[in-house]
Amino acid sequence: MRTLIANGTIVNADGSQAADVLIDGETIAAIGADLAATGVTADETIDASGRYVIPGAIDVHTHMELPFGGTFAKDTFETGTRAAAFGGTTSIVDFAVQSKGASLRAGLDAWHAKAEGNAVVDYGFHMIMSDVNDGTLAEMDQLVAEGIPDFKLFTAYPGVFYSDDGAIFRAMQRTRENGGLIMMHAENGMAIDVVAADEVAAGHTDPYYHGVARYPIFEGEATNRVIRLAEAAGVPVYIVHLSARDALDAVRAARDRGAMAFAETCPQYLFLSLDDLGNGFDGAKFVCSPPMRSKDHQPELWAGLRRDDLQVVSTDHCPFDFHGQKELGRGDFRKIPNGLPGVEDRLDLMHDGGVVGGRISRERWVEICSTAPARMFGMYPRKGSVSVGADADLVVYDPDRKRTISARTHHMDVDYSCYEGRVVQGASDVVLSRGSVVVRNGEFHGRKGAGRFIKRTPADFVRLA
Ligand code: URP
Ligand code: ZN
Ligand code: ZN
Repeated sequence: MRTLIANGTIVNADGSQAADVLIDGETIAAIGADLAATGVTADETIDASGRYVIPGAIDVHTHMELPFGGTFAKDTFETGTRAAAFGGTTSIVDFAVQSKGASLRAGLDAWHAKAEGNAVVDYGFHMIMSDVNDGTLAEMDQLVAEGIPDFKLFTAYPGVFYSDDGAIFRAMQRTRENGGLIMMHAENGMAIDVVAADEVAAGHTDPYYHGVARYPIFEGEATNRVIRLAEAAGVPVYIVHLSARDALDAVRAARDRGAMAFAETCPQYLFLSLDDLGNGFDGAKFVCSPPMRSKDHQPELWAGLRRDDLQVVSTDHCPFDFHGQKELGRGDFRKIPNGLPGVEDRLDLMHDGGVVGGRISRERWVEICSTAPARMFGMYPRKGSVSVGADADLVVYDPDRKRTISARTHHMDVDYSCYEGRVVQGASDVVLSRGSVVVRNGEFHGRKGAGRFIKRTPADFVRLA
């Protein structure tokens, strides 16, 4: 099957050009001006006049079916990747979970079983490490060889995913040998638990106090600490879901002294704030960790994206229904499952708030949503660029169309939207995964099980010479 995408403007991270794209099978076969006039033929032609042609977006932080707080994140690999595709995201990297006391292998096998035969678009895995010991350290090497080269550890969630500094340092030392990458959830969970207990004891049990208890300085402290540990081990480190200027300051200072420190933020930290947590129990819809911050953090995060102190925007998609799941925390904010839906809306939110809002260029938008994630996580140039030989994961994107975000129309399997009623400019018209149309004009044309596991290589990109 040959498909010609004609008359569009190709937007890559390094520049834009008016050119056609020829897809042959699953990959991009040719790029050039007016390909039909040069004798190129195709089975189907998609007219992209007035549209961008961009590499499919890549979300490197999702949690399909994550067990949390006595329940499970609601999207499966089928519903979550379907929703991703509607939003122009053609690859996800999800977090497989090692349960305490179990092996990495058992966690990874469970995640392969959840995804295989169900995912609509391509997927990879990072590994959440809850236990660092001789056995799991040895398993890390094997996982790197199997295409799972990154490991998330936590200074948050004591008693659940938490690791102490010694464990984190041991895992970092191991990545110096095996080429892997440590991703850190950096908040001081021990200190947070003290403040949270104090708030509950004072009768402050509403969701708002989830945001109050998790001080920005606790995120800044932990971010600085884990970067220092990585410097001591001589390895790169990637800070996930960075929310606060305190943490950004730590990343910037580290980068300024030449440390291999990298970080992502998420749309919720750019568009939502502590105020959203404040509407009685309705605020539970916005409970995630780190929490939303006061609005004055937002311009600094945008500046961080412009200056490349933040390289990636991912979603941390981790949806729980308001009814029946978030409600587990009525009367005690500590029992609200942490996480938000977001995999469907990232590309449009970032286009609207970033490009239309005049904060970043369209090329930077493509970079932070697709190219940098591909580079950082060992998928480039197969993913993350419109180039000959790359997978034909492509989005024909209308930069002018407006749509209203709503739980009534979204495709994520969750009963609310954090952005209910927000109008965004920019929407995906046609989404292709490895050459096949998955979404066209709001209709699903994909297939459950069409998504393939992405065996990723260790990301040399993040290692300085
Ligand atoms: O609140 C969040 N972020 N839930 C998902 C788990 C995590 O820490 O990423
Ligand atoms: Zn986290
Ligand atoms: Zn997460």
